[in-house]
Amino acid sequence: MRIALIGFMGSGKTTVGRRLSEMLEYSFIDLDEEIEKAAHASPAELFKLYGEGTFRSIESKVLEQLGAADADFVLACGGGVVEQARNREVLRKHFLTVWLDVPFGEVARRLSGESGRRPLWTESDGKAAQPISSHSSLENKNEVLYNRRQALYAECADLVYRCEEPEGHDASALHVYELIEQRGG
Ligand code: S3P
Repeated sequence: MRIALIGFMGSGKTTVGRRLSEMLEYSFIDLDEEIEKAAHASPAELFKLYGEGTFRSIESKVLEQLGAADADFVLACGGGVVEQARNREVLRKHFLTVWLDVPFGEVARRLSGESGRRPLWTESDGKAAQPISSHSSLENKNEVLYNRRQALYAECADLVYRCEEPEGHDASALHVYELIEQRGG
């Protein structure tokens, strides 16, 4: 079975996915790492050098290839994989797709100071500290992106794990494992 974890940046897809793959005895694949192998550049470098469009088209190609693979694995997707309709279609058709739905406040807490690796997280972008007013407008920008994507995640999720309380990634992985088991493997 191919399992894809989707969710916003900072929702724990990579850590939870790795743990989940161990529980299921599946291999683990990180979509951003596969993109990096294919393009010989990290997602952040691709954004910087060629722009988001180039990153998104490589992301789609790699996702399609994985969707066609005859193997058991857990795939941690990048948070923006749902931006493109063709990716949502691939996720619906070729994966059991699990949405890690973590409240905005929690992802914002986890991501503070993380924008170097995440070009679309704009709270702190490597520039000098911002005055409080501009901090809050950047946070709004992130929240707008988060809110807009919620519907896109919902559109392709077979299972939703809504993580209301902050909890460790091991506990989240166990909850996701149980959801998959309850669904009948
Ligand atoms: C992105 C999320 C990133 C990475 C790229 C774009 C996004 O992955 O794919 O920077 O559009 O949300 P993570 O969700 O693992 O941070």
